[in-house]
Amino acid sequence: MTRILIVDDDKAVRNLFGQILGDDGYDYTLAADAAEAREYLKEQNFELVISDINMPGESGLDFIRHVLAEHRDTAALMVTVMDDLSIAETLFELGVYGYIIKPFHVKDALISVKNALHRRKLEIDNRTYREKMEQMVSERTAALQKGKKELEQTLNRLKETQAQMIQSEKMASIGQLAAGIAHEINNPTGFVSSNLSTLSDYQSDVITLVKEYRKLVADLKDIKEYSTSILEQVDRITSLEAEADIDFILDDISGLIDESREGTERIKKIALDLKDLAHPGEDKLKFEDINRNLASTLNVVWNELKYKATVTKDYGELPEVECYPQQLKQVFTNILVNAAQAIEEKGEIGIVTRVVDEYVEIKISDTGKGIPEENLSRLFDPFFTTKEVGKGTGLGLNIAYKIINKHNGTIDVESEAGKGTTFTIRVPVGGQQ
Ligand SMILES: Nc1ncnc2c1ncn2[C@@H]1O[C@H](COP(=O)(O)OP(=O)(O)OP(=O)(O)O)[C@@H](O)[C@H]1O
Ligand SMILES: [Mg+2]
Repeated sequence: MTRILIVDDDKAVRNLFGQILGDDGYDYTLAADAAEAREYLKEQNFELVISDINMPGESGLDFIRHVLAEHRDTAALMVTVMDDLSIAETLFELGVYGYIIKPFHVKDALISVKNALHRRKLEIDNRTYREKMEQMVSERTAALQKGKKELEQTLNRLKETQAQMIQSEKMASIGQLAAGIAHEINNPTGFVSSNLSTLSDYQSDVITLVKEYRKLVADLKDIKEYSTSILEQVDRITSLEAEADIDFILDDISGLIDESREGTERIKKIALDLKDLAHPGEDKLKFEDINRNLASTLNVVWNELKYKATVTKDYGELPEVECYPQQLKQVFTNILVNAAQAIEEKGEIGIVTRVVDEYVEIKISDTGKGIPEENLSRLFDPFFTTKEVGKGTGLGLNIAYKIINKHNGTIDVESEAGKGTTFTIRVPVGGQQ
């Protein structure tokens, strides 16, 4: 039932309204002033408030302002004797629906009431519809935005995967190429190096023999009674000896053989590195004490380090870590050799091991020449080297990176030009799971 609140200090007007509205089937409440009306408003909702403007106490204007501000589903009509247009404007601005001017005709008043209720219903319907639309729009917008965000994330993931695919494809083909080259290099290197060692066995015999020949030639020279043909041969040998500078040759042969052997060793190492580029080691997973692993690596590379650096070791207590021990040795070897190579005259190499969080951390630092900032981002790229041709292939750190990656670990570098470099490796204690 539609509830209407009537506020008028004039009892006759109040009752008249009550009668008109009651007869028409409305549920009405009568109040003599604003204060009383406010009490009713606290108790229940009214669809319509009809208020006199001139009342003792709170004015009709203030009261209606309050009603419209606090009860947005309540409509308002004003009742007045005066026909004041300026106050009418203020009231319309507040949202009052109309005026009933005293004295009024019953039917006119009723029509004003019905009109106000009708407008109220239209406005509420409108508002409900608008609110529903707004909610729909905001839901759709949110859904669209969510969709957009998901699309962007997918796109980013795709880009990443694509970059990774390109990278791994590049690496795979470089790897295949490298493995092929390594194989090709290995065969000739094998026989060259085996020939060199045979040659080195032969050389001392040949040298001994040549020395005997030379003694014989010298002795022959002193004897005068030989046939001219022998003397001629002796002279020829003497001049050939001088021409060929046989003293120098005899001296140089072992040097040449040693150098060639070193060369083949280097070729073998490069071939090995190239193979690792294709498949880094067919090592077995094992629980290993990294300190022991480091110590054994140091033994192997000792020759490369001993003239360049004093090595300080600070091994912390470590749990055994599930890892590929041979491969870790290779990582440490590559980093230690780099450290020695970075030191020009004489310096220090420090090794520190610790448990940090869930990782075993290995720090290898040197007092070498350091790495210029612009090289830091390319350090782990395959074939990145600053060493002269023949001294470095630029694979050491790339292989190290791949091995540590395979261990779910990290490898980081800090460096200051002129001061030195520190590589930090972290291998998860939990191993490979
Ligand atoms: N401790 C270091 N101090 C200074 N520079 C370093 C250090 N370690 C690596 N570098 C720089 O990083 C480059 C790449 O190192 P990486 O071990 O991958 O290749 P390389 O030593 O040049 O050749 P390879 O190890 O294949 O024989 C080096 O050429 C060098 O410029
Ligand atoms: Mg290296």
